[in-house]
Amino acid sequence: MSSDFLPYGRQQIDDDDIAAVAEALRSDYLTTGPRVTAFEEAFATRMGVKRAIACANGTAALHAAMLALDIGPGDVAIVPSITFLATANAARFCNGWVMFADVDPATGLMTPESLTEAIIRTHAIGMTPRVVIPVHYAGQICDMPALSRIARDNGMFIVEDACHALGSIDSEGFTVGACEDSDMACFSFHPVKTIATGEGGMITTNDPELEKRLRRAVCHGMVREEADLTDPGLSCDAEGTRLPWAYEMQALGYNYRLSDIQAALGLSQLTKLDQFIARRRHLAGLYDEQLNDLSHLTPMSHLVGQSPSLHLYVVQIDFEALNKPRQQVMAELANKGVGTQVHYIPVHHQPYYKRLDAELELPGSDTFYARCLSLPLFPTMKDKDVTRVVNALRDVLVE
Ligand SMILES: Cc1ncc(COP(=O)(O)O)c(C=O)c1O
Repeated sequence: MSSDFLPYGRQQIDDDDIAAVAEALRSDYLTTGPRVTAFEEAFATRMGVKRAIACANGTAALHAAMLALDIGPGDVAIVPSITFLATANAARFCNGWVMFADVDPATGLMTPESLTEAIIRTHAIGMTPRVVIPVHYAGQICDMPALSRIARDNGMFIVEDACHALGSIDSEGFTVGACEDSDMACFSFHPVKTIATGEGGMITTNDPELEKRLRRAVCHGMVREEADLTDPGLSCDAEGTRLPWAYEMQALGYNYRLSDIQAALGLSQLTKLDQFIARRRHLAGLYDEQLNDLSHLTPMSHLVGQSPSLHLYVVQIDFEALNKPRQQVMAELANKGVGTQVHYIPVHHQPYYKRLDAELELPGSDTFYARCLSLPLFPTMKDKDVTRVVNALRDVLVE
């Protein structure tokens, strides 16, 4: 493999990011402190949402969202099958049931039709759907107004898995995370995502009651605010005055906190979000232009009216017609210094989930999975790297 190997994704960490982390390390706070609060406030402002709650990673964000909604045994979460495992697992952590929805084979997104179909399947097994978790796959945005209408008509909550879509703007001009059509949105700051904190996550919401429940879920189920304390025998002295150390555990919670060290990196990275988005959009535009005449390959689809901040650039390749298996294409590209990845194996095919429902067939997800390939896309890529990837594909995609 060549030394200038292009991975499918990677972080951009600059000297000012490193300086921000060093400053945090020299401060009094290593765990949750003022930088976490500042990161939450800056993130909420940037997304155009009332509240943002920082947490340990995107998986913790999704789990906390399920805890905040009191998802439990007997509750069904509808999740698209083309996603990372964590979307479905979040409901299982709470012993909720997962019903997988199919996706549009061109985009990998859950659609109003596939949500409706999953709701019908849920009722058919005598269960009630309580929450839908649309995934904004690769940074493209699901049809949230339509999904939310269907969800609300069926008495369901809506939690967006926005881990791929930091900075994406919908056709009405709302940034993903503004929660215009949802109860909560969850983000990840894993290094291949749009901004990085190492591990890290955020949940956004406009609902102050959900904010309280989320904060409790990510910090041991504990509350400290005077207004939230319910047991005077525990929290007050004989005269009814609040004890300075008072705290109560009101629900089972986790240590899912973000540290100030990570928040320092997040705050610094957030100042560069627009720059990262612009670079990703520019590189995706170059791919669109240069990939339009390759045999057996369809460039990434684009949804009308949206300005996505693409986390992945995913092409569709007809490997059958090409008569070359995907693993061979990936190996030949890797030999030319081009890293690729497959996002994702449909989650309903995983052995764990097959134990829940072995019969389920989702043809859109299968078609999408059979053809998808993620090409390198990250802000430090040069324009000429795109040409290198396209030339490598041109060489490899010959029968
Ligand atoms: C769609 C999706 N949901 C959830 C997650 C979980 O995020 P994290 O890795 O930060 O736990 C990821 C991350 O890979 C993801 O891609």
